[in-house]
Amino acid sequence: MDPEETGQAPELRALKSGAVDRVDSDLGRMEAVKRLKGVEDRRVGSEVFDELTLKTLYKLANSGYLAVLNGAVSTGKEANVFKGITDNDEFVAVKIYRVATSDFKKMQYYIQGDPRFRVRTTNRRQLVQAWVNKEFRNLKRALEAGVRVPEPVVARDNILIMEFIGDDGEPAPTMREVPPDDPERALELIVEYMHRLYTGARLVHGDLSFFNILNHSGEPVIIDVSQAMVLDHPLAMELLERDIKNVVRDFKRLGVNVSEDDIRKKIKKEAEPPAKTNTHEKN
Ligand SMILES: Nc1ncnc2c1ncn2[C@@H]1O[C@H](COP(=O)(O)OP(=O)(O)O)[C@@H](O)[C@H]1O
Ligand SMILES: [Mg+2]
Repeated sequence: MDPEETGQAPELRALKSGAVDRVDSDLGRMEAVKRLKGVEDRRVGSEVFDELTLKTLYKLANSGYLAVLNGAVSTGKEANVFKGITDNDEFVAVKIYRVATSDFKKMQYYIQGDPRFRVRTTNRRQLVQAWVNKEFRNLKRALEAGVRVPEPVVARDNILIMEFIGDDGEPAPTMREVPPDDPERALELIVEYMHRLYTGARLVHGDLSFFNILNHSGEPVIIDVSQAMVLDHPLAMELLERDIKNVVRDFKRLGVNVSEDDIRKKIKKEAEPPAKTNTHEKN
């Protein structure tokens, strides 16, 4: 499909290793697309795909992480999310942070005091790189604690590749866009995930609301964990309270009667002691 016809972000076809010529012609085509696009897409073209971003995309392609990049899923304030296709014809989500216009102050504010990231830098690119790494590691930690989040694949420079949440290349809507059919059950799951995040991963999300929970065929999937904080961070409790407020507000809108107190208790309750059965051992 011609990107000009779809009105989508430009495609980067054939990024596979050795395909330098084809990549070059793709870049030429992207340049052409950029010129033809409206204001919003021009912003995408000129700021997401700056030279270094293209280099990183190319490196990722050469390392086998990406064969095709097409279709913008979302153009956000700090990052754009694209649909990618791997060498094995699997869909992936490709989150590309804008370096030039990223909220530097916010990133510094959130990253300071996180013992995992002692970044003392005024270099935008380095800070964005740390930020992307933080999102990658937070996703990993959440996943290990049993929270349903996209599985991270790789983080490099300002680009994060992760599991694509959706079906047949169609991204799942947010819970804001498509509320869950069974809100009570969704609430239960989300509170359980908040609990696992807190007691297992020892993180608080920090920007949790229906905007950052996808509704994947009725199953909530938590996304956008770049700002998630370790519990010892001085801001963690404040952020947890905000998350609780947002979740209560969003569910109340759906007519679910739930209190902040109730959720807080469930999140902070002690982790269950491990079961004494041997179900995980081989025979
Ligand atoms: N792993 C994913 N699979 C499918 N869609 C995704 C994925 N991650 C993000 N998206 C889409 O991109 C949007 C923005 O992603 P998000 O991580 O929330 O970034 P932002 O910082 O712009 O809010 C989401 O609302 C969702 O529509
Ligand atoms: Mg978001």
